[in-house]
Amino acid sequence: MAEASNAPVGVFDSGVGGFTILKELLRELPEERFIYFGDTGNCPYGVRPVSEIQELSRNAARLLLDQGAKAIVVACNTASVSALADLRATFDCPFIGVVPAIKPAVALTRTGRVGIAATEASARGDYLRHLIDQHANGVEVFAVGCPRLVLLAEAGILDGPEAEAAIRDYITPMLDAGIDTLVLGCTHFPAMRLAFARVVGPQVTMIDSGAAIARQTRRVLSERGWLAGAGQSADEPRPLDDGDALWCSGDAEHCAHVATAILSMPVQVRFAPGMLLPPVRA
Ligand code: DGL
Repeated sequence: MAEASNAPVGVFDSGVGGFTILKELLRELPEERFIYFGDTGNCPYGVRPVSEIQELSRNAARLLLDQGAKAIVVACNTASVSALADLRATFDCPFIGVVPAIKPAVALTRTGRVGIAATEASARGDYLRHLIDQHANGVEVFAVGCPRLVLLAEAGILDGPEAEAAIRDYITPMLDAGIDTLVLGCTHFPAMRLAFARVVGPQVTMIDSGAAIARQTRRVLSERGWLAGAGQSADEPRPLDDGDALWCSGDAEHCAHVATAILSMPVQVRFAPGMLLPPVRA
C-alpha cells in the first residue's frame, strides 16, 4: 500500500525514555519518518493505576493517529505491560510493544540469577510474572521497581553521583543476591547506562530491548508492505529532519534538552496541549 509506506511511524512513551527506542529506530529504519510523543506532563506512568495508564496510552495513540501514523511503537514498558491489549482492541492500527528482555537474559546468565530494573507498575504486574514463568527455565529472576530513576532521567540527570547513588540503592540487593545479568526493563534506563555500568561493574551484563523493538517494527511494516524505501538499516541513527515531529505534553524546551543528550543530536520538541491527569507521587 504505497500510501501507507509514506506515512510516519508513531512512537510514544510517558516521557523521555522512548528516545532510547527512537534512537534504535533511526538506525534500523532510517528511511522512515517518525512522530514522537513524550507524555511528560503525565510522567511517571509507573506509579499510576492500570486504568490511568490505559487512558493516557489511548490519548497518546489518538494524538499519533490524528497525525497519520501508520503504526505505533509503544516505547514504554509500563504502557506495553498495562495497555497494549487495550490499545489493540481500541484502534485499528498495528502496535509494537516493548517486552523486557527476560528471554535473552535467561540464555546469558551463568550464575542462574537475573535482575530486572523496571517501574513499579511493570514489576508488580501479572504480565511480567507470566513472562518470567514462561522463560525462567529454573533461573531465579528478581524484579525491582525504580521510580526515582525515572524522575532523575526526566530531570536530565542521566549520569553523575546523584544518578549513581539512586541506582546503587535499587540494584545493590540484587547484586548481593548474585545476579550476573541485569535487564533494563524501563525505556528510561538505557539513557543512564553509563551510571548503571559503574554501579554493576564489568561482571554484570546489561541488556535492553531497544534493538529488538526496532527489528520487530521492521518486521511488522515489512509484512504489510508498508516499509518506506528499501528498508536498509544504518550503522548510526540518522539525524532527525523536517519530516520528523517530536511532541511532549510538558515543558518542551526541557524535553528537547534531555532528548538532545539521549539522542546525541540537536532536537526540537513542540508542546502538544491535551489531557493532563492529576500527578501521582513517585
Ligand atoms: N519509560 C517507561 C517504561 O519503560 C515508564 C516510566 C514511567 O513513566 O514510570 O516503563
